[in-house]
Amino acid sequence: MIPLLHIDTSAVLPFLKASTFSQWEEKALQALQKLEQGTGKGSDFLGWMHLPSAVQPKLFQQIEDIRRDWERDIELVVVIGIGGSYLGSKAIIEALSHPFGHLLPKKGPQIVFAGQNIEEDYISSLMEAMERASTACVVISKSGTTTEPAIAFRLVKQHLYERYGAEEAKRRIVAITDPEKGALRKMATNQGYRTFSIPHDVGGRYSVFTPVGLLPIALAGIRIEELMQGAAAMEEITAEESPKNPAVQYAVARNALYAEEKKIELLVTYHPGLFFLTEWWKQLFGESEGKEHKGLFPAGVSFTTDLHSMGQYIQDGERHVFETVLTIEKPVGKATIPHTEQDDDGLNYLAGKRIDYCNKMAAFGTRLAHIDGGVPNISLQIPRLTPFYLGALLYFFQKSCGISGYVLGVNPFDQEGVEAYKKNMFALLNKPGFEAQGDLLRKRL
Ligand code: PA5
Repeated sequence: MIPLLHIDTSAVLPFLKASTFSQWEEKALQALQKLEQGTGKGSDFLGWMHLPSAVQPKLFQQIEDIRRDWERDIELVVVIGIGGSYLGSKAIIEALSHPFGHLLPKKGPQIVFAGQNIEEDYISSLMEAMERASTACVVISKSGTTTEPAIAFRLVKQHLYERYGAEEAKRRIVAITDPEKGALRKMATNQGYRTFSIPHDVGGRYSVFTPVGLLPIALAGIRIEELMQGAAAMEEITAEESPKNPAVQYAVARNALYAEEKKIELLVTYHPGLFFLTEWWKQLFGESEGKEHKGLFPAGVSFTTDLHSMGQYIQDGERHVFETVLTIEKPVGKATIPHTEQDDDGLNYLAGKRIDYCNKMAAFGTRLAHIDGGVPNISLQIPRLTPFYLGALLYFFQKSCGISGYVLGVNPFDQEGVEAYKKNMFALLNKPGFEAQGDLLRKRL
């Protein structure tokens, strides 16, 4: 069997001065044990760990029923959510979609996202798009009370009710939320929307393998069964209490580097379709580890594009960065550089070579240049960009994040720091109950 993921941490070792790999291995294995036994911090939020192996065929059927129902007449699906309630599906859909799909014959509804910002122009453009296309909506919020998606849903809902009438609007709305609590659950019950529940013990950024991720991904025409099979295969591999466990190896390498004052982890990809996978990864690690004034700062770059913008800094700026480079072994498409008689661009030395070969040589060259420049390197490779391998990759990152958080000594499953901006925003918006704080804040503006 082709390995699901290849990890190489050999280019980390030369940078370790303060500690050894084996010290970190011991800590990471203890952290894995805590995760597996549910004895660490935030252990009431470990439901994500067995989602892939425990998935029921009934869930695939319920999702398929909605896909089929909407396939008949829906041109536009607006997926409303923010943070963990949108980034997972956005990452997978972007990674597996044709970059020029809008120019190709239409297959299924177009999936767009809303509620991940509160920008007026974005929302008014969405309203314009909904006027032109037969629209349905998937609204996702675990708490059911998050302001950004709630605002977007109010507008989308109003459009659907006005345009299609109450009965038809109900067919066009699916809500994914807490099984009992929150304004969204209440609204869905009162209005009679179709719903899916997000398990109590699964937090937003770990929810891609629940209906939060699966429904939008399936509506985009992606095979979610394969995604879950890949994740389940990785679930088994990363349960192994061994230094060979790739999730342990990754957690070891990044924690060892953090202890060497490498404070920024750059996720490097060579595939533009992985831009949102990087965004998902940034949220996963940033929101899980950035606590108690600790934690690696997760950042991302897309090469070779960003070698022409950030390459200078990485090569030669402050030495507080390391790279985690994610590559794909084989491309899905095919393009070869042609030979020309004139060779006026001087590229005939590449004639007959695949574009992917050039990309790989750029990656090898960059790896060596950056290592020589003092940037440690963790290398990750998946065989192909398919639902199966992406499912495995996302699960790998989730598991490694749980291990890493425990090695760091934080609770990787809460996000109390996110509340500070919310309180101020509510106060400034005069939300009932926040008036006094609003007066104080306005004096500081
Ligand atoms: O990871 C998390 O828990 C957060 O990013 C949430 O997903 C995000 O804040 C959205 O929350 P909710 O789904 O409750 O609207």
